[in-house]
Amino acid sequence: MPVSTTTTTLDPTLANPLSEPCVMVIFGASGDLTKRLLVPSLYNLACDGLLSDNFAVLGTGRSQISNEEFRDSMASKETGLRAFHTRNSFDDDACEKLLSRFHFESANIDVEGFTQLKQVVDELDQKYQAQGNILFYFAMAPRFFGSLCENLYKAGFQDGEGWKRIIVEKPFGTDLQSALDLNDEILKYWREEQIYRVDHYLGKETVQNLLAFRFSNGMFEPLWNKNHIDNIQFNVCESVDVQGRGGYYDHSGVLRDMMQNHMFQMLSYICMEPPGSFDADSIRNEKAKLLESVRVYDVDEVNDNVVRGQYGPAYDDSGDVTKPGYRQEDDVAPDSNTETFAAAKLQIENWRWQGVPIYLRSGKALWKRGTEIVIEFKKPPVTQFNGTGIAQLTANRLVFHIQPYQGIELLFQAKTPGPTMQLQNVDMSFNYGDAFKASRYTGYEVMLYACSRGDATLFSRGDLVEAAWRIAQPLLDHWSTTPAADFPNYTRNSWGPKSAYDLLAKDGRRWFEVVTPDVLEESPMFKGADPLLLSSVILALQSITANAGDMVVQQGDISNEMYFICRGEVEVLDASGGVVNTLKDGNFFGEIGVLMATPRTASVRAKTLCDLFVLTKADFSRILNDHPQFAESMMQVAKERYDLVVSMGDLITAGPSA
Ligand code: BG6
Repeated sequence: MPVSTTTTTLDPTLANPLSEPCVMVIFGASGDLTKRLLVPSLYNLACDGLLSDNFAVLGTGRSQISNEEFRDSMASKETGLRAFHTRNSFDDDACEKLLSRFHFESANIDVEGFTQLKQVVDELDQKYQAQGNILFYFAMAPRFFGSLCENLYKAGFQDGEGWKRIIVEKPFGTDLQSALDLNDEILKYWREEQIYRVDHYLGKETVQNLLAFRFSNGMFEPLWNKNHIDNIQFNVCESVDVQGRGGYYDHSGVLRDMMQNHMFQMLSYICMEPPGSFDADSIRNEKAKLLESVRVYDVDEVNDNVVRGQYGPAYDDSGDVTKPGYRQEDDVAPDSNTETFAAAKLQIENWRWQGVPIYLRSGKALWKRGTEIVIEFKKPPVTQFNGTGIAQLTANRLVFHIQPYQGIELLFQAKTPGPTMQLQNVDMSFNYGDAFKASRYTGYEVMLYACSRGDATLFSRGDLVEAAWRIAQPLLDHWSTTPAADFPNYTRNSWGPKSAYDLLAKDGRRWFEVVTPDVLEESPMFKGADPLLLSSVILALQSITANAGDMVVQQGDISNEMYFICRGEVEVLDASGGVVNTLKDGNFFGEIGVLMATPRTASVRAKTLCDLFVLTKADFSRILNDHPQFAESMMQVAKERYDLVVSMGDLITAGPSA
């Protein structure tokens, strides 16, 4: 359905001012970050008409390369802008114009090297009339940050007219003490308002929209508290493994790599108090205040509220390793204690959130890539439905889809059309792709642009970084002194270790798993299906739990549902009870059950505790009834993929309800 949008700006002439004139000095200019993100972002700003003409880049590093060589490598089809740009089409003229302003100067990180560098910057400043403004970008390992700051200062860069700003890449410290030390080291030479600490999640449109959503809409704010919200879940699932970054990752782990920074940023946006205004300090004051209200755990509390995991290898059907486990990755210790997964329950001790559990979960090598924030509201009392056959109600949920799906969804229940009172899960959803037709961005454009304009809203202030480390520190301390006895404790492509499930189960809750269309498409039945069909099926999924040993499907019974394994393992048994196959997280079974009612040809037994999604034939028939065009294609799918001849009657006649 088309969504109408209204742009709300105070004064159209103020809406899109240019970036401010400046010379941008990039330390680590030949590295990956520059090629993959910084240059494509500058290119996007240039294409969108937001980059000042009084702008130049000076790349620096130890390599001895000419300006031409630098420009060529930045433009390259294989490893430069032509490979990494994010626009629908490539504009050669814009690229050439941008790169003509790129220069390179080799320099050692010492006073002498930086004094020479300053002469080049001064020349560029004159040439491009950059008004003495300099933006330093530290695209280097954090161990250099302190000496970069010191030597820039000693080479006299802070003098003269114009502003001087420093963008510092993450990680900012590796624990509380190192972050405190780094802040001290930097602030010895530069002022806090000159320091822009990057967290690239703050550059994501969907993350920025969290604040816009909360504070530009009146209807949710009155509900945004412990009286109406039961719990909040932050989920950052990555399907990738450490991708050759074992050397870095083994000293980091998911707590340092994702939680302490990206997830805590999202947490503060979702839970902070309304700021007095949208200026940087008002927002950053509220964010810091929120993180300071998160309970800092002692050792026992860490044990009770946080779990960790590490992925093992992937195997094929014959038991051969197809992909290494974490401990077999390059540059990872064979007995590594580093966590590639963590789940935590945090508590915010303030008036608004006291008693509302905040659950966070993130990991690598998981079943899907997906970042979601789920606000689960309190359930209404079910007794008012006494006598209707409705035994339980589903909680309303507001889901922020951060990536790769981008949107906001409100899940609620509606009466199923018909003479009896029955409820069905439905949703109202806003999808970025439908509402906005903008090009794809890297997320760094907005940060470079904001920094050039002196807007620090999207950057972390020192106190916030320290507050975030204060929450993470007891976990780091406990884990470093208590090696995990069960690592590796989850397999690649799974939903993570069982302990994450148990963490919520002991509160009587479960993770709200956001099934995305690509997950459903793993089943041959839904491969390439229409998005509308997929989203209707997703809404119709019901979750059930099977205990180890439970028979989920009995051979000979008439089939009337299909199953999707969310967590756990099942065994497929032949007529004599022999195990013919084992299926686990992410697999489907019993698809024929929603196509036609026939006797099951095999039994399926839960091998472990299983979380399953069920699609009943009744629900599927209803969907096909509402959208008869899909029934035709399902008949073809049945023939092509399952060799079944299915009639329209088979498909849209509801079987017995599950
Ligand atoms: C980085 C981490 O900060 O964020 C990576 O170092 C992680 O390990 C990445 O993969 C995730 O970013 P995104 O934008 O893909 O969610």
